[in-house]
Amino acid sequence: MADTYDLTSLRDRLDRVASLDASALEAEEIAVLGRKQGELNARLKALGSIPIEQRREAGASLNTLKGEFEAAFAARREVLRAASRDAARSAIDPTMPGRAAWVGSRHPVTEVIDEIVEIFRSLGFTVALGPEVENEELNFHALNFPPDHPAMDMHDTLYLDQGRDAPAERLLLRTHTSPVQIRVMRGGPPPYRVVIPGMVYRNDPFDPSHAPAFSQIEGLAVDRGITFVDLKATLTHFARRFLGADTRVRFRPSFFPFTEPSAEMDVGCLLCGGEGCSACKGTGWMEILGCGMVHEQVLKGCDLDPEEWTGWAFGMGPQRIAMLRYGVPDIRLLYSGDMRFLSQFGRLA
Ligand code: PHE
Repeated sequence: MADTYDLTSLRDRLDRVASLDASALEAEEIAVLGRKQGELNARLKALGSIPIEQRREAGASLNTLKGEFEAAFAARREVLRAASRDAARSAIDPTMPGRAAWVGSRHPVTEVIDEIVEIFRSLGFTVALGPEVENEELNFHALNFPPDHPAMDMHDTLYLDQGRDAPAERLLLRTHTSPVQIRVMRGGPPPYRVVIPGMVYRNDPFDPSHAPAFSQIEGLAVDRGITFVDLKATLTHFARRFLGADTRVRFRPSFFPFTEPSAEMDVGCLLCGGEGCSACKGTGWMEILGCGMVHEQVLKGCDLDPEEWTGWAFGMGPQRIAMLRYGVPDIRLLYSGDMRFLSQFGRLA
């Protein structure tokens, strides 16, 4: 029973606590202080079997040791905790250069669409939308296209395959946003002042100036007493807001089945300022939209009396305008998602 009060081995263990690592420390704490299997408790229990005169002193020594162990374990735990905190901190190198945040920016075509819509909104126009799948009636007939118009040819228009029981009225992907004019005029009484942004589709393969899917912005104003003067004034104002106060504009006669008279609006070349360059093919002018007075036939088809109501409409292509504005030589760049191209437009970066 010498072991009972020979505390040398326990003192050695106490000395070693300060060099234990975290997992050894946990195991040693259980081995020494554990209530059931712990060494100290075993020794305390064994006190009963040593001579009475030694018991008191041995008990006191064991209790002192117990306190010393508790303090040693706590101290060691604190040292290890502090060390691991320092290690975590030194893993961060505050001298490393920061990683630049990726800042996205809006696509140039989105930018153009939003700017155009915003200008018309400020003039009192509201936004109207229509479906991309249309029927022939709204895409063509109600817009005064004659039944054999070449635009309706399969070469130009993407028709939906409706199977063998196809209805007489074929469905198609709208080739322009003009059918939404009809939806607006048949949807409620005038006056109307709307802009209609949206995707349109044509059976054209991609080439430098064509895409099978592109966007348009349509405009429609119908009220009492509206004349061609309103059309010219509004679109001229628009061009100057959008492209700059000294932008020159001109209107050339043109033809669309659903407007009469019809015109195309040109602006002074955005790249050479009018001197003539390859972008404007030496003319100094760029065509940016088609327009005209809403055709009588179209008004009547929407139950509007042309004696009471008159109006004008326009249509333009945001991809085309983005190309003219930024000097983009190939429309496919606007569809590529190529960051080398797109990052040049970053406004936020
Ligand atoms: N819808 C015509 C096109 O796609 C553009 C247009 C719209 C012309 C409205 C006149 C009035 O070419």
